[in-house]
Amino acid sequence: MRRLNRKKTLNLMKELDAFPKVPESYVETSASGGTVSLIAFTTIAFLTIMEFMVYRDTWMKYEYEVDKDFTSKLRINIDITVAMRCQYVGADVLDLAETMVASADGLIYEPVPFELTPQQKELQRMLQLIQSRLQEEHSLQDVIFKSAFKSASTALPPREDNSLQSPDACRIHGHLYVNKVAGNFHITVGKAIPHPRGHAHLAALVSHESYNFSHRIDHLSFGELIPGIINPLDGTEKIASDHNQMFQYFITVVPTKLHTYKISAETHQFSVTERERVINHAAGSHGVSGIFMKYDISSLMVTVTEEHMPFWQFLVRLCGIIGGIFSTTGILHGFGRFVAEIIFCRFRLGSYRSTSGPLPDGHTSNHLPLITDNNTH
Ligand SMILES: *[C@@H]1O[C@H](CO)[C@@H](O)[C@H](O)[C@H]1NC(C)=O
Repeated sequence: MRRLNRKKTLNLMKELDAFPKVPESYVETSASGGTVSLIAFTTIAFLTIMEFMVYRDTWMKYEYEVDKDFTSKLRINIDITVAMRCQYVGADVLDLAETMVASADGLIYEPVPFELTPQQKELQRMLQLIQSRLQEEHSLQDVIFKSAFKSASTALPPREDNSLQSPDACRIHGHLYVNKVAGNFHITVGKAIPHPRGHAHLAALVSHESYNFSHRIDHLSFGELIPGIINPLDGTEKIASDHNQMFQYFITVVPTKLHTYKISAETHQFSVTERERVINHAAGSHGVSGIFMKYDISSLMVTVTEEHMPFWQFLVRLCGIIGGIFSTTGILHGFGRFVAEIIFCRFRLGSYRSTSGPLPDGHTSNHLPLITDNNTH
């Protein structure tokens, strides 16, 4: 009984066979088939290698959504050197409500020489080169995202010669936390003193002749500090031609969530437009000399995710390549033979019209016997 069942299932499985075997003696190989197979295998190998390279590669996916997080604080990282003595300048932040942000005292004022050392200049030039390339080619941004944390910090190295030059400039660096609303970070003459209706800078003691708002931005970023990421203003250097000059930067900050295979971070990208003008009240150009950074926060949030082809997709595509090329070349080969047969038949039809038996020609003989076989049945 069990043996019978087994035999039945075996037969059933035989019926289901989609790959019926043809005895070796019925199979014929030909030179043209060999050539086609060779081409097919080469194409398969080539496409498989290409596909593997695509599989190994990763890309960045950008998604946009409305930023719902408006309660958290925004961190501003600053490293700016101004060509003025530290006791003459002050930096602070005003936000949209015109209230002075108290945490501005988190900034450190350090007297330094304005001139960079040759080694530092080299790095600055490299940064500026990357910046100009970034403006032309946006896809470079992806590379920078991918290499975040992998590459060394882009901060300037410390001076190699200690205090050869007397410090004539002030390096203002550190970080501060502000509300997530538009605001204005500025560096002007005199230390800021809070005032019931805003704040004032004590500038009376500083002579106009010592005003010089030439500055170098070594780093300006918003949010978490991520080494390896190059921000749009890093490496900027501005030389003031006049004592009373105003530099303005209009910054739009875009909250960005970065998920790569190396890191996961919440950072902020920004775009900036800049403007500078000489303050001359007599000529109608009013204002306060200094460095002003007006920032605004975008309500859209970008999520940047590094993506990769899943392994199953790679397998499916591989099967598609192998099977597709196999059957396509098979069809083409068959079609080629068919065309060749028609052409050869035309040429020889006249001499063989009367005979219905197998043709002596190698091309057609393996087809015609089948037809005659069928006729006899
Ligand atoms: C300000 O300082 C820079 C750097 O030391 C210098 O090149 C520039 O001429 C100065 N500008 C003025 C108006 O003094």
